[in-house]
Amino acid sequence: MKSMLITGGAGFIGSNFIHYVLGIDRGVRVVNLDALTYAACPENLGDLPDPGRHVFVHGDVCDQDLVLGLLLEYEIDTVVHFAAESHVDRSIHGPAPFVRTNILGTFSLLEAARTAWFEKGIGGGERTRFHHVSTDEVYGSLGPDDPAFVETTPYAPSSPYAASKASSDHLVRAYAHTYKLPAVITNCSNNYGPRQFPEKLIPLVILNAQEGRPLPVYGDGQQVRDWLYVEDHCEALWTVLDRGVPGETYNIGGGNQVANLTLIREICNLLDGVQPDGSGRPHSSLITFVADRPGHDRRYAMEINKIRSELGWKPRHTLADGLRKTVQWYLDHPGWVSAVRSRGDYKEWIAKNYASRKAATP
Ligand code: NAD
Ligand code: TYD
Repeated sequence: MKSMLITGGAGFIGSNFIHYVLGIDRGVRVVNLDALTYAACPENLGDLPDPGRHVFVHGDVCDQDLVLGLLLEYEIDTVVHFAAESHVDRSIHGPAPFVRTNILGTFSLLEAARTAWFEKGIGGGERTRFHHVSTDEVYGSLGPDDPAFVETTPYAPSSPYAASKASSDHLVRAYAHTYKLPAVITNCSNNYGPRQFPEKLIPLVILNAQEGRPLPVYGDGQQVRDWLYVEDHCEALWTVLDRGVPGETYNIGGGNQVANLTLIREICNLLDGVQPDGSGRPHSSLITFVADRPGHDRRYAMEINKIRSELGWKPRHTLADGLRKTVQWYLDHPGWVSAVRSRGDYKEWIAKNYASRKAATP
């Protein structure tokens, strides 16, 4: 049996990955370490395919003794590290938790893995892996005609979030190089899909539009992101765990580059079809330009030739398919939505982030 430690498995991508793994491999046990921060939704784990193979541990990745204890107790041979502070706007308001969890938390996991696998003799076989889940944001921002990011593009993070992820990537790479820790890094573009916390653009727009609230567009709305449906990301991670080479980095992307304003209009059109506004107005009439994000990266785009040619992965979903499924998921899960949004912190965050962004002309 493969014994996996998944960190951050009550969050968006981590919980989707647990659903995916328990559904695809009947020989895996998953230990899920999550601190249950504001971004975690225990509801994400309520309907797992085979809950008997999932062990939830409420704890902090910065607690190295706890992590080492879990690695030894469950004889973990595979770590998949998702836990992070993940929202750029929050990192601008308060970078300290990003430095702590993303940098020190990754350091704590690396040290625990090094101790367990090299000193205590747990794992250490050919299949042992430390898989670090990272982002395209470490590469910085592209101009409209620049080629997409490749694995060798120099790091140039712009936000405190991106800088903390870049820093964690450097630590992982150093452990692979110096100690021969069997580590792999994947850098992925923007994800969307079921169970994403509604502070991020796509779920925020779906829910605001449904309720007739303004749809806040930062700046001129011409910033480009390369969107990937979360299930495709999970499949890519599984592929890299299975066939990726230790010490290597793989870029993952959706091949769906689109400007924010175009994306928001597409979501509005979808909602006009499945849940028309009572007054007959198109949902796009709610679009409101607001003050831009400081230091806002203009464009991200991923070149995915390496993972496609070496490991045989490519995304399955077009943006249109993925958005249709995502909109439907949020419409079908009002209980999840109200549970997540009823927490005090969510309302506080929305007030804090948007109060200072009065409507602006692009
Ligand atoms: P998320 O914010 O939805 O979830 C993060 C999870 O980590 C939460 O459950 C939270 O409780 C947990 N966590 C936070 N601090 C912790 C700590 N100190 N100890 C233990 N658990 C802690 O994040 P996400 O969007 O699912 O992203 C997961 C990973 O994927 C992150 O590392 C992120 O950088 C990376 N990533 C995200 C995207 C994206 O578009 N969302 C794209 C590329 C890479
Ligand atoms: P987000 O989902 O926060 O992801 P990231 O910053 O990691 O790319 O934002 C996606 C894009 O949408 C980004 O260019 C910022 C923009 N955006 C808005 O225009 N309005 C919003 O209310 C939010 C949350 C984001």
